[in-house]
Amino acid sequence: MFNWDEYEKEEKAEAPKKAQPAPAPVVEEKQEQPAPQVAAEPKATQEEYVEPEALDNVAKAQAALEELDVAPGLEELEMGAARIEVDDKKMINCRADLNQLVPFKYDWAWQKYLDGCANHWMPQEINMTKDVATWKDPNGLTDDERKIVMRSLGYFSTADSLVANNLVLAIYRLITNPECRQYILRQAFEEAIHTHAYQYCVESLGMDEAEVFNMYREVPSIAKKAAWSIKHTQGISNPTFKTGTAESDQELLRNLIGFYCVTEGIFFYCGFTQILSMGRRNKMTGVAEQFQYILRDESMHLNFGVDVINQIKLENPHLWTEEFKQEVIQMILEGTQLEIEYARDTMPRGVLGMNAGMMEEYLQFICNRRLAQLGLPAQFKNVSNPFPWMSEIMDLKKEKNFFETRVIEYQTGGALSWD
Ligand SMILES: [Fe+2]
Ligand SMILES: [Fe+2]
Repeated sequence: MFNWDEYEKEEKAEAPKKAQPAPAPVVEEKQEQPAPQVAAEPKATQEEYVEPEALDNVAKAQAALEELDVAPGLEELEMGAARIEVDDKKMINCRADLNQLVPFKYDWAWQKYLDGCANHWMPQEINMTKDVATWKDPNGLTDDERKIVMRSLGYFSTADSLVANNLVLAIYRLITNPECRQYILRQAFEEAIHTHAYQYCVESLGMDEAEVFNMYREVPSIAKKAAWSIKHTQGISNPTFKTGTAESDQELLRNLIGFYCVTEGIFFYCGFTQILSMGRRNKMTGVAEQFQYILRDESMHLNFGVDVINQIKLENPHLWTEEFKQEVIQMILEGTQLEIEYARDTMPRGVLGMNAGMMEEYLQFICNRRLAQLGLPAQFKNVSNPFPWMSEIMDLKKEKNFFETRVIEYQTGGALSWD
C-alpha cells in the first residue's frame, strides 16, 4: 500500500541523481561561450535535449506562447472584468465566471461538499468473509432472501452508473454555480464508489457477473425503473441542449426531479430496506454494511438535489406553474408505483419480517415526503413509516456504524506527515 513515507523515501533516493552536476565536457563548453550569449535571454541548445527534434518543438512552443496575447482564450477570460459579487451568482443561466469558487452564495452546497468528504469510505474496507460463507452454504439463506440479494445487486449495479452518467454528461454542464459543481464532482466520485461496492459484492460472493449486470435489461421490474430514469435524461443529455427558455429550464427541472427525487429518492428505497433488514437479522452483514454507507451518501445526494431544485424555483418562479406542479406530482407517483411493483416482484411472500404490503405503505410515506420537500401536497392519506429504523441509519454519523462492528476513522490529507 502506498503511503507518504514511501513516496518520500523514493524522492530522497532519486534526489542525488537529480542533483548530480552536469558532465564536465558540457560545463567546459558553456564556459567557452562568448560573453554576449551568456547575457542574452537563455536559448535552448541541442545538448540540453534528448532528441534533435526537441529543439524545434521548443521553438514552436515559444512561438505559440507569443501568440497567446491575441488568442481567443484571452477573450474567454474577460481580462480586467469586474470582480465576481455574490449577487452575480445563479443556479442556472449564470454568466458570471464559473472558475471562481468564492465568494460563496450557496453555503449549503459547500457544506454538503465538506460533509461528503468527511464521510469518505471505500468498499474494500468492509469484511465480506462471513457473507461469503453464508452465500455458499446451501442453508445459509432462504430462496426468498437469495432473490432479494440478487435483485438488489442487479438493480443497483447499473443504476448508480445511470446516475453518474447523467450527472457528469448532462447536469454538471447546466448547473452554473461553482459551489454546486464542487458538490456534483464529489457526488460523481461517490457514485463511482457505489458501483465499485456492488461490483465488489458480486465478485466476493462469486456471483455470475453477466447475470447481475444485465438484470436491468432482462428482469422486467428492474428494467422498468431503469427505462423510466433513462427517459428522463434524454431531454438534456444531447450536447447541443441549452437552458435559457422557460421550456428548456423546465426540461432541466424534470431531469433533476427524475434523478434526485425519484431515482435516488424512491427507486433505491425498497432494495435498501430489504438488505438493511437482512443485516439487522445478522445475515449478509458485509453487504448490508456496504448498503448502509451507500444509503448515507444517497440521503445527502437527495437533500442536495432538493435544495438545488428549490433554489431554481426561487430564482425562476415563472417555471413553477400549476401545470408543471401537476406534472411533477405525476412523476413522483409514477416512481412510487414502479417501486411498489418492484417490492411485489422481490417479495412474493413475507420475508425478513416484512412484506410487499408494508413496503407499499413505506413507499407511499416516502412519496408524501418527497412531495413535501418540493412544496407539493401529499397524495396518500393516513400513511406512516413502518420502518422507523431506516431514518436512524440515514442519520448515521461516521464515528460508529449501525452494526457496531467497528469504529471508522479515515485519514485525510491533513494527517499526512510532511517532515
Ligand atoms: Fe449512488
Ligand atoms: Fe446518488
